[in-house]
Amino acid sequence: MPIKILMVCLGNICRSPLAEGILASKLPKDKFIIDSAGTGNWHVGNKPDERSIATAKKNGIDISHQKGKHFNTSFFETYDYIYVMDNSNYDNVIALAKTENHKNKVQLILDELFPGENVDVPDPYYGLQNGFDMVYEMLDDSCTILAKKLIEKHLQLQNII
Ligand code: 4NP
Repeated sequence: MPIKILMVCLGNICRSPLAEGILASKLPKDKFIIDSAGTGNWHVGNKPDERSIATAKKNGIDISHQKGKHFNTSFFETYDYIYVMDNSNYDNVIALAKTENHKNKVQLILDELFPGENVDVPDPYYGLQNGFDMVYEMLDDSCTILAKKLIEKHLQLQNII
């Protein structure tokens, strides 16, 4: 069974689509499924913001096929790990969790890079293209660490057995 990972932001058109594309590019597709969703429902079914698509493309990643999804409680069962982009997303997702097991699945994505510092990925929606490039760099650094951890945890064990 592949490990399922969900990236969450507010609109699911700027940050979490980038996080989905970046993490997916660092992990084997047959072993890991990466998705994204928003805590808001405004962009359900839409493709990511053109600025996120452009930033990803510049870095060799195609996210244009992604479709916006709205986070709901069933996602706590579907996904093994839920990474949120900022503290507000964290509060919104945790408010929907019904069990400790659900709560324990939720982590800030930048905790990988800055453990325990509660750093947010800034929302680039109201800014310019360079804000999206900055978000890309932060997510790329964090996802490099995360991908290494996930491979160590879930794949090296299989190789031994
Ligand atoms: P995101 O950015 O959470 O990174 O996708 C936003 C996109 C759209 C809106 C807010 C944040 N919005 O209000 O429509």
